[in-house]
Amino acid sequence: ATLPGIDFYRLSIQPSTTEILPGVSTPVLTYGGQFTAPTIRVRQGRRALVTFDNKLGHEANVHLHGGRVPAASDGYPMDLIANGKSKTYDYPNNQAGATLWYHDHTHHMEAEHVYRGMHGFYLVEGTDEQQLGLPSGAYDVPILLRDALFDDQGGLVFDPADPYNRPTLMANGKSQPYFKVAARKYRLRLLNGSAHRIFELSLGNGAQMTQIATDCGLLPAPVPTNKLVLSSGERAEVVIDFGAYPLGTQVTLEDVSGPVLRFDVERRALDRSRVPDRLRAMVPLAAATQTRQLTLSLDPVNIQALINNQAFDPNRVDMQVRRGSSEVWEVTNSDTNVGGSGFGVPHNFHTHLAQFRILDRDGKAPLPGEAGWKDTVLIQPGETVRFQASFADYLGRYVYHCHMLEHSAIGMMGQMEIV
Ligand code: C2O
Ligand code: CU
Ligand code: CU
Repeated sequence: ATLPGIDFYRLSIQPSTTEILPGVSTPVLTYGGQFTAPTIRVRQGRRALVTFDNKLGHEANVHLHGGRVPAASDGYPMDLIANGKSKTYDYPNNQAGATLWYHDHTHHMEAEHVYRGMHGFYLVEGTDEQQLGLPSGAYDVPILLRDALFDDQGGLVFDPADPYNRPTLMANGKSQPYFKVAARKYRLRLLNGSAHRIFELSLGNGAQMTQIATDCGLLPAPVPTNKLVLSSGERAEVVIDFGAYPLGTQVTLEDVSGPVLRFDVERRALDRSRVPDRLRAMVPLAAATQTRQLTLSLDPVNIQALINNQAFDPNRVDMQVRRGSSEVWEVTNSDTNVGGSGFGVPHNFHTHLAQFRILDRDGKAPLPGEAGWKDTVLIQPGETVRFQASFADYLGRYVYHCHMLEHSAIGMMGQMEIV
């Protein structure tokens, strides 16, 4: 069902300061002056025009991660907004409800720009969602997780050569915040908005969460889990029932490296929400027309990152894909021994425009939480992930890349042309 009308938004791209660590002012790069950027909420089928005024002092752009949008609005890495100029992105929102996000995609600069703050939520409310009775309104909370390294003055340190040394974990732009919750169910939309980190999340008390959605929206059915692994760019939505605890209970959300945020159960509330046994039916996959192999590898000697032994070249089209087709891609992370170090490096893989279903990992069935449509998938050293992607309505050039953005920034990115 298409709702008539268009929503308009206007945001500046600008430097600002924010309080991440208590009492300390940190310079950041923002959309709309806010760290993290303002959450945009739209409805399925209702178009949004989002204008960005670039006041950053240098060029930048905006990519809608998970969005099925025309090529001119995709935030292609070379399609930049000059300083002092504006651009209006056209987002049709003709896609199922999902937790998307918007972030910078400036060629070579994406890792630093995102790290310094150019990231925010873009939530598409599906036409099928209201009737499900999931927690909504104030009980539907997006949480952007990320990491950072600070200097002594509270400035963000960006070192692309050492992305693993970012010990401060943040939720919605604060270091280890607490969040007062009612004793009832909440829908939490978790996004790993880090440039590089892999989060491995669990509740400090060991309790289960109910996963209801992955990158591109609702799963076919809820999946109880006590651990969520999210690589950069991935999303998972969970329902947590704080009604299971006495008032005054504190529940932490923890990464393997330490606590991320704390929920304080502080008041009673009526709860008519529920998690139905069936969430969103999965349409059967059409027969695939192509199979492609892609191999990811780092080249530490030349400080490059490669797909099929080539670094990104905007003047080279790596593959042509037929509009409306469905293809199987086999993506291998060959980095089991980077530069002879004996160490492997994880990668992940993200496709613009296309959404995919994971078929298998090294021939084994995907995890239950991966049963829905995804756009980003973690690939461990030596692992091969097979997925089937469907290519939507638009023509033109779109990129795919490792979403560990220090890797895409040095070439682990390719482009397809939809014809
Ligand atoms: Cu979230 Cu091409 O990126
Ligand atoms: Cu994307
Ligand atoms: Cu990578």
